[in-house]
Amino acid sequence: MTGGDGTVLSLTDIFKHFPVRRSFFSRETLRVHAIDGVSLAVPAGKTVGLVGESGCGKTTLGRVALRLVEPDSGKILFLGQDITALAGEEMRRTRKMMQIIFQDPYSSLNPRMRVGDIVGEGWLVHGIAGSREIRELAERLLLRVGLSADAADKYPHEFSGGQRQRIGIARAISLSPKLVVADEPVSSLDVSVQAQILNLLKDIQEEYGMAYLFVSHDLRVIRHMSETVAVMYLGKLMEVSPAEEFFGNPLHPYTRSLLAAVPMLGGAPREKIVLRGEIPSPVSPPPGCRFHTRCFMARKLCEEVCPPLREAAPGRMAACHFV
Ligand SMILES: Nc1ncnc2c1ncn2[C@@H]1O[C@H](COP(=O)(O)OP(=O)(O)OP(=O)(O)O)[C@@H](O)[C@H]1O
Ligand SMILES: [Mg+2]
Repeated sequence: MTGGDGTVLSLTDIFKHFPVRRSFFSRETLRVHAIDGVSLAVPAGKTVGLVGESGCGKTTLGRVALRLVEPDSGKILFLGQDITALAGEEMRRTRKMMQIIFQDPYSSLNPRMRVGDIVGEGWLVHGIAGSREIRELAERLLLRVGLSADAADKYPHEFSGGQRQRIGIARAISLSPKLVVADEPVSSLDVSVQAQILNLLKDIQEEYGMAYLFVSHDLRVIRHMSETVAVMYLGKLMEVSPAEEFFGNPLHPYTRSLLAAVPMLGGAPREKIVLRGEIPSPVSPPPGCRFHTRCFMARKLCEEVCPPLREAAPGRMAACHFV
């Protein structure tokens, strides 16, 4: 089941600004431009990797996709249905088919619940199974994610970080979702454990046929996981390309700068580009192209006119006046 065009999720022109106070004593409110006009589609059964520096809006976009955060404007299509304003029972039924895996396996599991109950909670909430069946289903899922069946009786604190992330994965797939937002699912894990968890996520994706919106700031992880890569900068998408082309021949100067900083990715020989300066404040993003203050290609036009995300090569999108 997908939208008619094979997409599970389609975001159109999403905006999300957060009001913040200028200072503790001030009444004046400012707006954090977390998402500024983002459109992105996730095909059924595939992975779209969302990458970008800290604070560029990745988590917010993932949460908007699941409507855990309400967008200010824009449209969210899930399996072809407009869910932007869906409420009540209909939204509850839709929620079953969308899940999230969090970055921090320590805080995302209820420490007072047994693992079997954590994994089986979705079945209980949606009235799919009774408690005896849930126990059996939970054991089967725990085995599937590489834990032992008796893990069901234990509490989260009895497990290591990697094992807890396996529990988080079991919980996420318990209702056979069509879309999983994985928000930095391995960033808090040791490198040796990261690869195991990534491979588990890939195997399970194949088995269950679900799509991932996979958020990471680590290009190596993105490369391992994604069919399509989307690059975000200060609330806007800079490039969306198939992964192979993205890593072999990056188009956008921001993408090129990011890749240049990771010499061990293979693919094309890396350019010598140094990303200058800090990412500007999302409270007052630069006019024109958001990236122009750090761009090695920037010209006068870039300071004045914001380049739209447009097809820059067949099947590839970039937001730059000069690619
Ligand atoms: N509830 C909130 N209230 C105010 N500002 C927020 C809120 N949530 C996010 N922001 C701001 O919105 C911007 C985008 O945040 P977001 O967490 O989406 O970024 P991110 O790309 O996930 O960053 P990271 O890589 O650090 O996780 C940041 O400037 C952040 O401070
Ligand atoms: Mg984040």
